[in-house]
Amino acid sequence: MTAVYCFSGSGHSRAVAEYFAKRLNVDILNIGEKPVAQKMICRTAIVVFPVYCQNIPEPVKSFLPCLKAEYIVFIATYGKMWHGNVLWEAAKAACGKVIAGAYIPIGHTYLRGNAEFPKEGLSAIIERIEAPRLAVIPKSSKNIFADFFPAWRSRLSVKITRNKDCNECGLCAERCPMQAIHSGKIKCNCIRCLRCVNLCPRAALEFKLRPILKKYLSKNREESLKVYL
Ligand SMILES: Cc1cc2nc3c(=O)[nH]c(=O)nc-3n(C[C@H](O)[C@H](O)[C@H](O)COP(=O)(O)O)c2cc1C
Repeated sequence: MTAVYCFSGSGHSRAVAEYFAKRLNVDILNIGEKPVAQKMICRTAIVVFPVYCQNIPEPVKSFLPCLKAEYIVFIATYGKMWHGNVLWEAAKAACGKVIAGAYIPIGHTYLRGNAEFPKEGLSAIIERIEAPRLAVIPKSSKNIFADFFPAWRSRLSVKITRNKDCNECGLCAERCPMQAIHSGKIKCNCIRCLRCVNLCPRAALEFKLRPILKKYLSKNREESLKVYL
């Protein structure tokens, strides 16, 4: 049996997970939400997640050691800046079970980019699931500062504020993948995934980018889909 696992802050990785779930006719299990715990054994697991600060997001890092599958496919979505080395790092954590991997360029959360992504080339991954064989995931470059306090960097460069429309319904706290919202306040373990901003039914949460991040996001970009088999 194949299972699609997904972590998604602003819904982009979710759109990619939906593509695979639809093609394989299976449901999506959300990483960081409780029902996943009972369903973590499958033959092939497709794990879809975003690149955050050229790293694997914290909820995915803590999920990987619990994943029991004979074969694993890792799909990393990235906002056309740079994907770092996350597939290689995920494959290392999965100890030789990886049969395919892909870096998928998609809209950047902080630029409010859309969830359109290139699909040509992804059929090869479906075929590989049907006839599994171990893949070679090459090591790619990573910014030398990427491992130093990624959560702090996001925190300093993205400010989230609450406006007068908040009615304290608590949905943001309930759905935060880091349990970082308490009594309307954002704690220091927030990874700035913006799930809270995107799901608020009253648009009561807003975010602002600091000039340094704005400048960084206006740089030249990397836009290619890379599939490894
Ligand atoms: C905290 C954070 C850090 C990010 N870091 C990177 C990055 O290093 N390189 C990049 O290309 N995109 C980066 N992005 C953009 C996301 O990888 C991209 O928009 C992704 O598809 C978001 O997926 P999601 O909506 O499922 O969370 C970052 C986004 C966030 C929220």
